[in-house]
Amino acid sequence: MTGLPFDPIARVFAPEALGRSVRLRGWVLRSRSSGGILFLLLRDRTGVVQVTGRRDALGDAAFATAEHVQIEGAVSVEGTVAEDRRAPDGREVRATAIAVVHAGEPFPIWTDQTEEFRLDQRHLVIRSQEHVATFRIKAEFLRACREFLDREEVLEMTPPVLSGNAAEGGAEAFQIDYFGRPGYLSQTAQLYLEALLFPHERVYALTPSFRAEKSRTPRHLTEYLHLEVELAWCDLAELLDFVERMIVATAHTIAERRPKELETLGRAPAELLALEAPFPRLRYAEAIDRLAAQGFPVHFGSDLGAAEERALTIESRAPLFVTHYPRELKAFYMTQTRDDPRTVDAADLLAPEGYGEIVGASSRETDIERLKERLAAMGVDPAPYEWYLDLRRHGNVPHAGFGLGVERVLRWMLRREHIRETTPFPRTPSRHTP
Ligand code: 4AD
Ligand code: MG
Repeated sequence: MTGLPFDPIARVFAPEALGRSVRLRGWVLRSRSSGGILFLLLRDRTGVVQVTGRRDALGDAAFATAEHVQIEGAVSVEGTVAEDRRAPDGREVRATAIAVVHAGEPFPIWTDQTEEFRLDQRHLVIRSQEHVATFRIKAEFLRACREFLDREEVLEMTPPVLSGNAAEGGAEAFQIDYFGRPGYLSQTAQLYLEALLFPHERVYALTPSFRAEKSRTPRHLTEYLHLEVELAWCDLAELLDFVERMIVATAHTIAERRPKELETLGRAPAELLALEAPFPRLRYAEAIDRLAAQGFPVHFGSDLGAAEERALTIESRAPLFVTHYPRELKAFYMTQTRDDPRTVDAADLLAPEGYGEIVGASSRETDIERLKERLAAMGVDPAPYEWYLDLRRHGNVPHAGFGLGVERVLRWMLRREHIRETTPFPRTPSRHTP
């Protein structure tokens, strides 16, 4: 082989590439040999192309070596771009040389293996076309979020993930031994973002959150990626406008930039492009009435579980905000609704098609006495929250924020049955390897 630089596979499909010679490298997706011709399906990060190698063009020895390359083996190829109506996308590369980089061992992954086996083999399974599409879109989604937040002049912060506080109440935090004292893996960056909001006004963080819930459901992970935003001078209504603008903008961006990958996963880009603001808003009390009318055994004070959230959204194409939950159902830091002391100025955003909660949002309580009351009523020791309460003593202003579960949003947008398919190495109660 000559010392020419390598071409991305995508270049094979450019109009001017026909008849030209190219130099490719990548991994073998499929391979078969018949009648002295080797057919390889070659993958790199830019695409997939069929490569044909004739015994008479390559020579007996090189042909035999290339024939032994396993699925997921690595090769480099020199050849000419030709038209071939039978090949995927109508073009193929006719090899003049194939060099084996790593022939590989027989690849142990194929369809119809059990889910447990596939999870054990996750480090190899993530090479599947489905996972490739998923994580390309996930990267695009994260980029779209950052672009949106940048346009909105919200600044990225880096709060800690290790803490002496168990922010969302304590029961579901992973506790660790922090040099002989209790430490916790973060469930939310919110309290730190609230502290950072005073000098920066508009802040966000993208960090892992940890939940020690033994919930074996298709929407719970024990580690997930949490996008949290905190805005000064903002009330619940303004916050919900912000959330829906962000969901619409990011959905449109992935539909525009990753249409092929979306189709691979069974989501028509047009469905995401059809999303528009505003999303409907429904008060919790009305949601309860609606559910009761459908036969759910619920009353004011009942939590909305997966089944209830599903019933509220299964028929809809747009996400739904459920607002003004009873304060007993929610965290201590939410603003008590001023004209209804039973509820808080909070909302959950439920994804359409029954996928359930994807965002938790609220206005933050500024009244230090009310915060202390809520901690006491919940039986929480206020000592670790003393620094947080201190924020209410210095330039206290109205503010609001939300947390978005990245994998939850992707489960909906990518139509995945289980949330674990939206993260490469899922962490669930029964599994933290590989
Ligand atoms: O509703 P949550 O618990 O809210 C908070 O943690 C707030 N402190 C966030 C904030 O206001 N800054 O969690 C927020 C979101 C949920 O709406 C959901 O999308 C996601 O985090 N989430 C999970 N995602 C995957 N697996 C889990 N076990 C999750 N728990 C929450
Ligand atoms: Mg929530």
